[in-house]
Amino acid sequence: MSSSSDSNHLPVKSIPGGYGIPFCGAIFDRYDYYYNQGRDKFFASRIQKYKSTVFRTNMAPGPFNASDPRVICLLDAVSFPILFDTSKVEKRDVFTGTYMPSTTFTGGYRVCAYLDPSEPKHTLIKRFFFSIVASQHDQVIPLLRSYLSELFIKLEDKVSQKGESSFNTISDNEFFNFVFRFYCGKDPAETKLGSKGPTLFDLWIYPQVAPLGSLGLPGWLLPINLVEDFFLHTLRFPAWTLKWDHKKLYDAVYTSATEALDEAARIGIGREEACNNLLFVLGFNSYGGMKIFIPTIMKWVGLAGEGLHRELAAEIRSVVKEEGGVTFGALDKMTLTKSVLWEALRIEPPVQFQYAKAKEDLVIQNHDTAFKVKKGEMLFGYQPFATKDAKIFENPEEFVGHRFVGEEGEKLLNYVYWSNGRETENPKEEDKQCPGKSLVELVCRVFLVELFLRYDTFTVEIGNPGLGPTVTIKSLVKSSDF
Ligand code: HEM
Repeated sequence: MSSSSDSNHLPVKSIPGGYGIPFCGAIFDRYDYYYNQGRDKFFASRIQKYKSTVFRTNMAPGPFNASDPRVICLLDAVSFPILFDTSKVEKRDVFTGTYMPSTTFTGGYRVCAYLDPSEPKHTLIKRFFFSIVASQHDQVIPLLRSYLSELFIKLEDKVSQKGESSFNTISDNEFFNFVFRFYCGKDPAETKLGSKGPTLFDLWIYPQVAPLGSLGLPGWLLPINLVEDFFLHTLRFPAWTLKWDHKKLYDAVYTSATEALDEAARIGIGREEACNNLLFVLGFNSYGGMKIFIPTIMKWVGLAGEGLHRELAAEIRSVVKEEGGVTFGALDKMTLTKSVLWEALRIEPPVQFQYAKAKEDLVIQNHDTAFKVKKGEMLFGYQPFATKDAKIFENPEEFVGHRFVGEEGEKLLNYVYWSNGRETENPKEEDKQCPGKSLVELVCRVFLVELFLRYDTFTVEIGNPGLGPTVTIKSLVKSSDF
Protein backbone atom coordinates (compact mmCIF):
# COMPACT_ATOMS: atom_id res chain seq x y z
CA MET A 1 0.00 0.00 0.00
CA SER A 2 1.25 3.50 -0.79
CA SER A 3 0.38 6.51 1.30
CA SER A 4 0.21 10.17 0.40
CA SER A 5 3.18 12.23 1.46
CA ASP A 6 2.87 13.12 5.15
CA SER A 7 -0.21 11.16 6.15
CA ASN A 8 1.73 9.04 8.65
CA HIS A 9 1.16 11.26 11.67
CA LEU A 10 -2.60 11.63 11.10
CA PRO A 11 -5.12 9.22 12.64
CA VAL A 12 -6.33 6.72 10.02
CA LYS A 13 -10.13 6.33 10.07
CA SER A 14 -12.57 4.45 7.91
CA ILE A 15 -14.44 6.66 5.47
CA PRO A 16 -17.86 7.70 6.83
CA GLY A 17 -21.10 7.64 4.80
CA GLY A 18 -22.48 4.89 2.65
CA TYR A 19 -24.48 3.90 -0.41
CA GLY A 20 -27.75 2.54 1.03
CA ILE A 21 -29.67 -0.34 -0.54
CA PRO A 22 -28.47 -1.02 -4.11
CA PHE A 23 -30.48 0.94 -6.71
CA CYS A 24 -32.84 2.60 -4.14
CA GLY A 25 -29.95 4.32 -2.32
CA ALA A 26 -28.74 5.77 -5.62
CA ILE A 27 -32.23 7.02 -6.51
CA PHE A 28 -32.71 8.64 -3.06
CA ASP A 29 -29.33 10.37 -3.31
CA ARG A 30 -30.15 11.52 -6.85
CA TYR A 31 -33.43 13.07 -5.70
CA ASP A 32 -31.63 14.82 -2.84
CA TYR A 33 -28.97 16.08 -5.22
CA TYR A 34 -31.24 17.44 -7.94
CA TYR A 35 -34.53 18.22 -6.23
CA ASN A 36 -34.79 18.00 -2.43
CA GLN A 37 -31.55 19.69 -1.49
CA GLY A 38 -29.75 20.91 -4.61
CA ARG A 39 -26.07 20.47 -5.35
CA ASP A 40 -24.30 22.59 -2.72
CA LYS A 41 -26.70 21.68 0.10
CA PHE A 42 -26.34 18.01 -0.83
CA PHE A 43 -22.60 18.19 -0.15
CA ALA A 44 -22.72 20.66 2.76
CA SER A 45 -25.35 18.66 4.66
CA ARG A 46 -23.31 15.46 4.36
CA ILE A 47 -20.15 17.23 5.57
CA GLN A 48 -22.18 18.23 8.64
CA LYS A 49 -23.73 14.80 9.08
CA TYR A 50 -20.48 12.85 8.82
CA LYS A 51 -18.30 15.61 10.33
CA SER A 52 -15.90 14.97 7.51
CA THR A 53 -15.01 16.48 4.10
CA VAL A 54 -14.29 12.95 2.87
CA PHE A 55 -17.24 10.54 2.80
CA ARG A 56 -19.02 7.92 0.74
CA THR A 57 -22.17 8.66 -1.24
CA ASN A 58 -23.86 7.85 -4.55
CA MET A 59 -23.29 10.46 -7.21
CA ALA A 60 -25.77 11.53 -9.87
CA PRO A 61 -26.90 10.53 -12.44
CA GLY A 62 -27.00 6.90 -11.20
CA PRO A 63 -29.29 4.26 -12.75
CA PHE A 64 -29.54 3.62 -15.64
CA ASN A 65 -27.02 6.09 -17.08
CA ALA A 66 -24.20 5.02 -14.80
CA SER A 67 -23.49 1.38 -14.03
CA ASP A 68 -21.92 2.19 -10.64
CA PRO A 69 -22.76 5.50 -8.87
CA ARG A 70 -20.70 4.79 -5.71
CA VAL A 71 -18.01 7.40 -5.03
CA ILE A 72 -15.77 8.74 -2.29
CA CYS A 73 -16.32 12.51 -2.12
CA LEU A 74 -13.34 14.83 -1.64
CA LEU A 75 -14.51 18.28 -0.53
CA ASP A 76 -11.48 20.13 0.80
CA ALA A 77 -8.26 21.60 -0.62
CA VAL A 78 -6.01 18.89 0.85
CA SER A 79 -7.70 15.68 -0.29
CA PHE A 80 -8.70 17.01 -3.74
CA PRO A 81 -5.24 16.96 -5.45
CA ILE A 82 -5.03 13.14 -5.24
CA LEU A 83 -7.14 13.38 -8.40
CA PHE A 84 -4.16 14.93 -10.25
CA ASP A 85 -1.69 12.20 -9.32
CA THR A 86 -1.84 9.82 -12.28
CA SER A 87 0.73 7.52 -10.69
CA LYS A 88 -1.96 6.68 -8.09
CA VAL A 89 -5.23 7.19 -9.93
CA GLU A 90 -6.62 6.15 -13.28
CA LYS A 91 -8.49 8.66 -15.46
CA ARG A 92 -9.87 6.26 -18.07
CA ASP A 93 -13.40 7.15 -19.27
CA VAL A 94 -14.16 9.35 -16.25
CA PHE A 95 -14.13 12.80 -17.92
CA THR A 96 -17.91 13.22 -17.39
CA GLY A 97 -17.98 11.15 -14.21
CA THR A 98 -19.71 7.87 -13.40
CA TYR A 99 -21.25 7.70 -16.89
CA MET A 100 -19.71 8.21 -20.31
CA PRO A 101 -21.61 9.59 -23.32
CA SER A 102 -21.78 7.38 -26.41
CA THR A 103 -18.72 7.54 -28.66
CA THR A 104 -21.21 8.15 -31.51
CA PHE A 105 -20.77 11.84 -30.55
CA THR A 106 -17.10 11.53 -31.45
CA GLY A 107 -17.14 9.39 -34.59
CA GLY A 108 -16.66 6.14 -32.64
CA TYR A 109 -13.40 7.32 -31.02
CA ARG A 110 -12.60 7.74 -27.34
CA VAL A 111 -11.15 11.25 -27.54
CA CYS A 112 -8.22 12.52 -25.45
CA ALA A 113 -10.25 13.70 -22.45
CA TYR A 114 -11.41 10.10 -21.88
CA LEU A 115 -7.96 8.49 -22.24
CA ASP A 116 -5.71 7.60 -19.34
CA PRO A 117 -2.05 8.66 -19.71
CA SER A 118 -1.10 4.96 -19.63
CA GLU A 119 -2.75 4.58 -23.05
CA PRO A 120 -0.12 5.37 -25.72
CA LYS A 121 -2.64 7.37 -27.82
CA HIS A 122 -3.01 9.86 -24.96
CA THR A 123 0.57 11.11 -25.27
CA LEU A 124 0.37 11.43 -29.05
CA ILE A 125 -2.92 13.31 -29.04
CA LYS A 126 -1.89 15.62 -26.23
CA ARG A 127 1.32 16.34 -28.15
CA PHE A 128 -0.86 17.28 -31.11
CA PHE A 129 -2.78 19.84 -28.99
CA PHE A 130 0.37 21.33 -27.50
CA SER A 131 1.69 21.71 -31.02
CA ILE A 132 -1.44 23.49 -32.33
CA VAL A 133 -1.62 25.85 -29.36
CA ALA A 134 2.10 26.69 -29.68
CA SER A 135 1.90 27.27 -33.45
CA GLN A 136 -0.94 29.79 -33.03
CA HIS A 137 0.59 31.54 -30.00
CA ASP A 138 1.51 34.79 -31.76
CA GLN A 139 -1.86 35.03 -33.48
CA VAL A 140 -3.98 34.93 -30.34
CA ILE A 141 -3.87 38.57 -29.24
CA PRO A 142 -4.60 40.29 -32.62
CA LEU A 143 -7.11 37.64 -33.69
CA LEU A 144 -9.02 37.70 -30.42
CA ARG A 145 -9.07 41.49 -30.26
CA SER A 146 -10.75 41.67 -33.66
CA TYR A 147 -13.55 39.35 -32.48
CA LEU A 148 -13.82 41.17 -29.16
CA SER A 149 -14.23 44.40 -31.06
CA GLU A 150 -17.27 42.87 -32.82
CA LEU A 151 -18.57 41.60 -29.49
CA PHE A 152 -18.43 44.98 -27.77
CA ILE A 153 -19.81 46.89 -30.76
CA LYS A 154 -22.83 44.57 -30.86
CA LEU A 155 -23.28 44.81 -27.09
CA GLU A 156 -23.12 48.61 -27.12
CA ASP A 157 -25.60 48.84 -29.99
CA LYS A 158 -28.07 46.66 -28.18
CA VAL A 159 -27.67 48.51 -24.87
CA SER A 160 -28.16 51.87 -26.56
CA GLN A 161 -31.22 50.63 -28.52
CA LYS A 162 -32.96 48.60 -25.82
CA GLY A 163 -31.51 49.93 -22.58
CA GLU A 164 -29.99 46.49 -21.78
CA SER A 165 -28.54 43.48 -23.59
CA SER A 166 -28.20 39.79 -23.03
CA PHE A 167 -24.46 39.07 -22.90
CA ASN A 168 -24.41 35.31 -23.46
CA THR A 169 -25.63 35.00 -27.06
CA ILE A 170 -23.37 37.76 -28.38
CA SER A 171 -20.40 36.39 -26.43
CA ASP A 172 -21.04 32.78 -27.52
CA ASN A 173 -21.16 33.80 -31.19
CA GLU A 174 -17.97 35.84 -31.17
CA PHE A 175 -16.02 33.34 -29.07
CA PHE A 176 -17.19 30.57 -31.35
CA ASN A 177 -15.95 32.52 -34.39
CA PHE A 178 -12.64 33.05 -32.63
CA VAL A 179 -12.05 29.41 -31.64
CA PHE A 180 -13.07 28.10 -35.06
CA ARG A 181 -10.67 30.49 -36.74
CA PHE A 182 -7.96 29.65 -34.21
CA TYR A 183 -8.03 25.88 -34.89
CA CYS A 184 -9.27 25.78 -38.49
CA GLY A 185 -7.75 28.94 -39.99
CA LYS A 186 -11.10 30.04 -41.43
CA ASP A 187 -14.11 32.03 -40.43
CA PRO A 188 -16.96 29.52 -39.82
CA ALA A 189 -19.19 31.60 -42.12
CA GLU A 190 -16.93 30.48 -45.02
CA THR A 191 -17.86 26.84 -44.30
CA LYS A 192 -21.11 24.94 -44.62
CA LEU A 193 -21.86 25.83 -40.99
CA GLY A 194 -22.67 29.38 -42.11
CA SER A 195 -23.95 31.34 -39.10
CA LYS A 196 -25.35 28.20 -37.42
CA GLY A 197 -22.07 26.99 -35.85
CA PRO A 198 -22.88 27.83 -32.20
CA THR A 199 -26.38 26.31 -32.45
CA LEU A 200 -25.09 23.11 -34.05
CA PHE A 201 -22.35 22.81 -31.43
CA ASP A 202 -24.80 23.50 -28.58
CA LEU A 203 -27.03 20.74 -29.92
CA TRP A 204 -24.06 18.39 -29.88
CA ILE A 205 -22.70 19.42 -26.43
CA TYR A 206 -25.93 19.51 -24.37
CA PRO A 207 -26.93 15.82 -24.67
CA GLN A 208 -23.41 14.79 -23.64
CA VAL A 209 -23.71 16.65 -20.33
CA ALA A 210 -27.52 16.51 -19.88
CA PRO A 211 -27.41 13.68 -17.28
CA LEU A 212 -25.46 16.08 -15.03
CA GLY A 213 -28.02 18.88 -15.18
CA SER A 214 -31.54 19.77 -14.13
CA LEU A 215 -34.01 22.58 -14.81
CA GLY A 216 -33.64 23.35 -11.11
CA LEU A 217 -37.37 23.45 -10.34
CA PRO A 218 -38.34 23.30 -6.64
CA GLY A 219 -38.92 19.89 -5.01
CA TRP A 220 -42.72 20.46 -4.66
CA LEU A 221 -43.10 20.40 -8.46
CA LEU A 222 -42.69 16.65 -8.15
CA PRO A 223 -44.67 15.59 -11.27
CA ILE A 224 -42.51 17.78 -13.55
CA ASN A 225 -39.36 16.69 -11.77
CA LEU A 226 -40.30 13.01 -12.19
CA VAL A 227 -40.64 13.50 -15.96
CA GLU A 228 -37.37 15.43 -16.15
CA ASP A 229 -35.62 12.81 -14.03
CA PHE A 230 -36.85 10.02 -16.29
CA PHE A 231 -35.74 11.63 -19.55
CA LEU A 232 -32.57 13.36 -18.39
CA HIS A 233 -31.13 11.07 -15.75
CA THR A 234 -32.63 7.61 -16.26
CA LEU A 235 -32.69 7.04 -20.02
CA ARG A 236 -29.53 7.19 -22.08
CA PHE A 237 -29.74 9.80 -24.82
CA PRO A 238 -30.07 8.11 -28.23
CA ALA A 239 -26.89 9.57 -29.72
CA TRP A 240 -27.64 8.14 -33.17
CA THR A 241 -30.37 10.80 -33.58
CA LEU A 242 -27.62 13.42 -33.74
CA LYS A 243 -25.31 11.60 -36.16
CA TRP A 244 -26.22 14.14 -38.85
CA ASP A 245 -25.12 16.99 -36.53
CA HIS A 246 -21.78 15.35 -35.77
CA LYS A 247 -21.22 14.78 -39.51
CA LYS A 248 -21.91 18.42 -40.31
CA LEU A 249 -19.48 19.63 -37.64
CA TYR A 250 -16.91 16.98 -38.56
CA ASP A 251 -17.01 17.92 -42.27
CA ALA A 252 -16.60 21.62 -41.50
CA VAL A 253 -13.51 20.90 -39.37
CA TYR A 254 -12.11 18.26 -41.75
CA THR A 255 -12.26 20.53 -44.80
CA SER A 256 -10.95 23.63 -42.97
CA ALA A 257 -8.28 22.48 -40.51
CA THR A 258 -6.01 21.02 -43.15
CA GLU A 259 -2.79 22.39 -41.61
CA ALA A 260 -3.62 21.03 -38.16
CA LEU A 261 -4.55 17.62 -39.61
CA ASP A 262 -1.28 17.52 -41.57
CA GLU A 263 0.51 18.13 -38.29
CA ALA A 264 -1.44 15.27 -36.65
CA ALA A 265 -0.43 12.92 -39.48
CA ARG A 266 3.21 13.95 -38.97
CA ILE A 267 2.91 13.11 -35.23
CA GLY A 268 1.43 9.70 -36.16
CA ILE A 269 -2.32 10.13 -35.63
CA GLY A 270 -4.76 9.07 -38.34
CA ARG A 271 -6.68 11.96 -39.97
CA GLU A 272 -10.12 10.76 -38.89
CA GLU A 273 -9.11 10.25 -35.26
CA ALA A 274 -7.28 13.60 -35.22
CA CYS A 275 -10.30 15.37 -36.68
CA ASN A 276 -12.65 13.92 -34.07
CA ASN A 277 -10.23 14.98 -31.35
CA LEU A 278 -9.92 18.44 -32.83
CA LEU A 279 -13.69 18.72 -33.09
CA PHE A 280 -13.98 17.85 -29.40
CA VAL A 281 -11.30 20.30 -28.32
CA LEU A 282 -12.76 23.05 -30.46
CA GLY A 283 -16.40 22.48 -29.59
CA PHE A 284 -16.44 20.96 -26.12
CA ASN A 285 -13.26 22.11 -24.39
CA SER A 286 -12.67 25.52 -25.98
CA TYR A 287 -16.07 26.84 -27.10
CA GLY A 288 -17.86 24.99 -24.27
CA GLY A 289 -15.33 26.22 -21.70
CA MET A 290 -15.56 29.86 -22.82
CA LYS A 291 -19.34 29.62 -23.02
CA ILE A 292 -19.31 28.95 -19.29
CA PHE A 293 -16.38 30.99 -18.13
CA ILE A 294 -16.57 34.33 -20.01
CA PRO A 295 -20.05 35.02 -18.55
CA THR A 296 -18.67 33.90 -15.16
CA ILE A 297 -16.01 36.62 -15.38
CA MET A 298 -18.67 39.19 -16.32
CA LYS A 299 -20.77 38.05 -13.37
CA TRP A 300 -18.12 38.37 -10.67
CA VAL A 301 -16.34 41.42 -12.05
CA GLY A 302 -19.70 43.06 -12.78
CA LEU A 303 -21.01 42.41 -9.27
CA ALA A 304 -17.74 43.61 -7.69
CA GLY A 305 -18.75 47.15 -8.72
CA GLU A 306 -17.26 50.46 -9.67
CA GLY A 307 -14.40 50.51 -7.16
CA LEU A 308 -12.72 47.42 -8.61
CA HIS A 309 -13.56 48.58 -12.16
CA ARG A 310 -11.73 51.86 -11.55
CA GLU A 311 -8.64 50.02 -10.29
CA LEU A 312 -8.64 47.56 -13.18
CA ALA A 313 -9.06 50.33 -15.74
CA ALA A 314 -6.22 52.30 -14.18
CA GLU A 315 -3.84 49.31 -14.18
CA ILE A 316 -4.72 48.16 -17.67
CA ARG A 317 -4.58 51.59 -19.30
CA SER A 318 -1.31 52.61 -17.68
CA VAL A 319 0.47 49.32 -18.50
CA VAL A 320 -0.78 49.34 -22.10
CA LYS A 321 0.48 52.93 -22.46
CA GLU A 322 3.84 52.08 -20.89
CA GLU A 323 4.36 48.96 -23.03
CA GLY A 324 3.06 50.55 -26.23
CA GLY A 325 0.14 48.12 -26.72
CA VAL A 326 -1.53 44.90 -25.62
CA THR A 327 1.51 42.62 -25.67
CA PHE A 328 2.49 39.46 -23.78
CA GLY A 329 4.86 41.57 -21.69
CA ALA A 330 2.08 44.03 -20.85
CA LEU A 331 -0.35 41.27 -19.85
CA ASP A 332 2.25 39.81 -17.54
CA LYS A 333 2.69 43.10 -15.69
CA MET A 334 -1.01 43.43 -14.87
CA THR A 335 -0.95 41.94 -11.39
CA LEU A 336 -4.48 42.97 -10.39
CA THR A 337 -5.98 41.79 -13.69
CA LYS A 338 -4.27 38.40 -13.25
CA SER A 339 -5.47 38.15 -9.66
CA VAL A 340 -9.07 38.98 -10.60
CA LEU A 341 -9.04 36.22 -13.18
CA TRP A 342 -7.64 33.64 -10.73
CA GLU A 343 -10.22 34.74 -8.18
CA ALA A 344 -13.03 34.07 -10.68
CA LEU A 345 -11.49 30.66 -11.43
CA ARG A 346 -11.33 29.95 -7.70
CA ILE A 347 -14.76 31.09 -6.64
CA GLU A 348 -16.63 29.50 -9.55
CA PRO A 349 -14.43 26.99 -11.35
CA PRO A 350 -15.83 26.34 -14.84
CA VAL A 351 -15.46 22.54 -14.68
CA GLN A 352 -16.76 21.61 -11.26
CA PHE A 353 -16.45 17.82 -11.15
CA GLN A 354 -13.34 15.67 -11.33
CA TYR A 355 -13.24 11.90 -11.08
CA ALA A 356 -10.54 9.21 -10.91
CA LYS A 357 -10.25 5.57 -9.83
CA ALA A 358 -7.69 4.39 -7.28
CA LYS A 359 -5.06 2.36 -9.18
CA GLU A 360 -3.95 0.67 -5.98
CA ASP A 361 -4.84 0.62 -2.26
CA LEU A 362 -4.17 4.18 -1.06
CA VAL A 363 -4.18 6.34 2.01
CA ILE A 364 -5.62 9.79 1.31
CA GLN A 365 -5.83 12.66 3.77
CA ASN A 366 -7.78 15.81 4.46
CA HIS A 367 -6.78 18.51 6.97
CA ASP A 368 -6.99 16.29 10.04
CA THR A 369 -7.54 12.65 9.13
CA ALA A 370 -6.16 9.93 6.87
CA PHE A 371 -8.44 7.42 5.10
CA LYS A 372 -7.85 4.07 3.44
CA VAL A 373 -9.13 3.70 -0.11
CA LYS A 374 -9.29 0.36 -1.90
CA LYS A 375 -7.97 -0.25 -5.41
CA GLY A 376 -10.73 0.39 -7.97
CA GLU A 377 -12.80 2.75 -5.81
CA MET A 378 -14.03 5.91 -7.51
CA LEU A 379 -12.81 9.23 -6.11
CA PHE A 380 -14.87 12.32 -6.83
CA GLY A 381 -13.98 15.95 -6.19
CA TYR A 382 -16.51 18.78 -6.23
CA GLN A 383 -14.09 21.58 -7.02
CA PRO A 384 -16.01 24.64 -5.71
CA PHE A 385 -15.78 23.18 -2.18
CA ALA A 386 -12.04 22.51 -2.54
CA THR A 387 -11.29 26.03 -3.78
CA LYS A 388 -13.54 27.61 -1.16
CA ASP A 389 -11.91 25.71 1.69
CA ALA A 390 -12.07 28.09 4.69
CA LYS A 391 -8.89 26.56 6.15
CA ILE A 392 -6.97 27.89 3.11
CA PHE A 393 -8.87 30.95 1.90
CA GLU A 394 -10.05 33.77 4.15
CA ASN A 395 -13.67 34.76 3.44
CA PRO A 396 -13.89 32.00 0.84
CA GLU A 397 -17.40 32.90 -0.33
CA GLU A 398 -16.37 36.48 -1.06
CA PHE A 399 -14.99 37.65 -4.41
CA VAL A 400 -11.75 39.38 -3.42
CA GLY A 401 -10.13 40.87 -6.53
CA HIS A 402 -6.74 41.40 -4.86
CA ARG A 403 -6.57 37.93 -3.32
CA PHE A 404 -3.61 36.72 -5.40
CA VAL A 405 -1.60 39.98 -5.51
CA GLY A 406 1.82 40.02 -3.83
CA GLU A 407 4.05 37.32 -2.41
CA GLU A 408 1.53 35.98 0.12
CA GLY A 409 -1.26 36.09 -2.45
CA GLU A 410 0.77 34.17 -5.00
CA LYS A 411 1.34 31.33 -2.49
CA LEU A 412 -2.40 30.69 -2.61
CA LEU A 413 -2.14 29.77 -6.31
CA ASN A 414 -1.10 26.36 -5.08
CA TYR A 415 -4.78 25.85 -4.20
CA VAL A 416 -6.34 27.01 -7.47
CA TYR A 417 -7.32 23.84 -9.32
CA TRP A 418 -9.42 24.84 -12.36
CA SER A 419 -7.10 23.18 -14.91
CA ASN A 420 -7.15 19.78 -13.18
CA GLY A 421 -3.80 20.61 -11.64
CA ARG A 422 -2.34 23.25 -9.35
CA GLU A 423 -2.13 26.75 -10.84
CA THR A 424 1.60 26.68 -10.01
CA GLU A 425 2.11 23.70 -12.34
CA ASN A 426 1.99 23.33 -16.11
CA PRO A 427 0.39 20.51 -18.13
CA LYS A 428 2.57 17.72 -19.51
CA GLU A 429 1.99 15.04 -22.12
CA GLU A 430 1.98 12.37 -19.43
CA ASP A 431 -0.53 13.94 -17.01
CA LYS A 432 -4.21 14.95 -17.22
CA GLN A 433 -3.85 18.68 -16.69
CA CYS A 434 -5.64 20.81 -19.28
CA PRO A 435 -3.32 21.52 -22.24
CA GLY A 436 -5.32 24.71 -22.88
CA LYS A 437 -4.30 26.21 -19.50
CA SER A 438 -2.08 29.02 -20.79
CA LEU A 439 -4.34 29.70 -23.78
CA VAL A 440 -7.44 30.01 -21.59
CA GLU A 441 -5.71 32.42 -19.23
CA LEU A 442 -4.34 34.47 -22.11
CA VAL A 443 -7.78 34.72 -23.71
CA CYS A 444 -9.42 35.75 -20.43
CA ARG A 445 -6.78 38.36 -19.68
CA VAL A 446 -7.14 39.88 -23.16
CA PHE A 447 -10.90 39.89 -22.63
CA LEU A 448 -10.55 41.86 -19.37
CA VAL A 449 -8.04 44.23 -20.97
CA GLU A 450 -10.32 44.96 -23.92
CA LEU A 451 -13.27 45.44 -21.57
CA PHE A 452 -11.52 48.04 -19.44
CA LEU A 453 -9.80 49.80 -22.32
CA ARG A 454 -13.31 50.49 -23.64
CA TYR A 455 -15.39 51.03 -20.51
CA ASP A 456 -14.96 52.73 -17.15
CA THR A 457 -17.64 50.64 -15.50
CA PHE A 458 -20.71 48.50 -16.22
CA THR A 459 -23.59 46.88 -14.38
CA VAL A 460 -25.05 43.40 -14.71
CA GLU A 461 -28.05 41.35 -13.73
CA ILE A 462 -27.53 37.62 -13.20
CA GLY A 463 -30.20 35.12 -14.19
CA ASN A 464 -30.72 31.41 -13.70
CA PRO A 465 -27.67 29.40 -14.60
CA GLY A 466 -27.73 27.04 -17.57
CA LEU A 467 -24.26 26.05 -18.78
CA GLY A 468 -22.69 28.88 -16.75
CA PRO A 469 -24.45 32.04 -15.53
CA THR A 470 -26.74 34.10 -17.73
CA VAL A 471 -25.72 37.74 -17.71
CA THR A 472 -27.69 40.81 -18.78
CA ILE A 473 -25.74 44.01 -19.27
CA LYS A 474 -27.79 46.84 -17.74
CA SER A 475 -25.38 49.70 -18.43
CA LEU A 476 -21.99 50.43 -19.99
CA VAL A 477 -20.03 53.61 -19.28
CA LYS A 478 -17.60 54.27 -22.11
CA SER A 479 -14.07 55.37 -21.44
CA SER A 480 -13.49 58.93 -22.61
CA ASP A 481 -10.00 57.91 -23.89
CA PHE A 482 -11.08 55.05 -26.16
C1 HEM B 1 -12.40 27.69 -19.92
C2 HEM B 1 -11.86 26.77 -20.66
C3 HEM B 1 -11.37 25.44 -20.18
C4 HEM B 1 -11.53 24.81 -18.98
C5 HEM B 1 -12.27 25.31 -17.76
C6 HEM B 1 -10.86 23.53 -19.05
C7 HEM B 1 -10.76 22.63 -18.01
C8 HEM B 1 -10.26 21.36 -18.13
C9 HEM B 1 -10.28 20.35 -17.10
C10 HEM B 1 -10.81 20.54 -15.68
C11 HEM B 1 -9.75 19.22 -17.60
C12 HEM B 1 -9.56 17.88 -16.89
C13 HEM B 1 -10.83 17.08 -16.87
C14 HEM B 1 -10.64 15.76 -16.17
O1 HEM B 1 -9.89 14.93 -16.69
O2 HEM B 1 -11.21 15.57 -15.11
C15 HEM B 1 -9.39 19.51 -18.97
C16 HEM B 1 -8.84 18.59 -19.81
C17 HEM B 1 -8.56 18.88 -21.11
N1 HEM B 1 -8.65 20.09 -21.75
FE1 HEM B 1 -9.30 21.80 -20.95
N2 HEM B 1 -10.31 23.42 -20.28
C18 HEM B 1 -10.59 24.56 -21.00
C19 HEM B 1 -10.17 24.85 -22.26
C20 HEM B 1 -9.41 24.05 -23.03
C21 HEM B 1 -8.79 24.42 -24.27
C22 HEM B 1 -8.78 25.82 -24.90
C23 HEM B 1 -8.18 23.32 -24.75
C24 HEM B 1 -7.35 23.29 -25.99
C25 HEM B 1 -6.18 22.74 -26.10
C26 HEM B 1 -8.44 22.23 -23.82
C27 HEM B 1 -8.07 20.91 -23.98
C28 HEM B 1 -8.23 19.94 -23.03
C29 HEM B 1 -7.87 18.54 -23.25
C30 HEM B 1 -7.35 17.92 -24.54
C31 HEM B 1 -8.07 17.88 -22.05
C32 HEM B 1 -7.74 16.42 -21.71
C33 HEM B 1 -6.32 16.42 -21.17
C34 HEM B 1 -5.69 15.07 -21.01
O3 HEM B 1 -6.33 14.08 -21.38
O4 HEM B 1 -4.56 15.00 -20.57
N3 HEM B 1 -9.16 22.72 -22.78
N4 HEM B 1 -9.69 20.82 -19.25
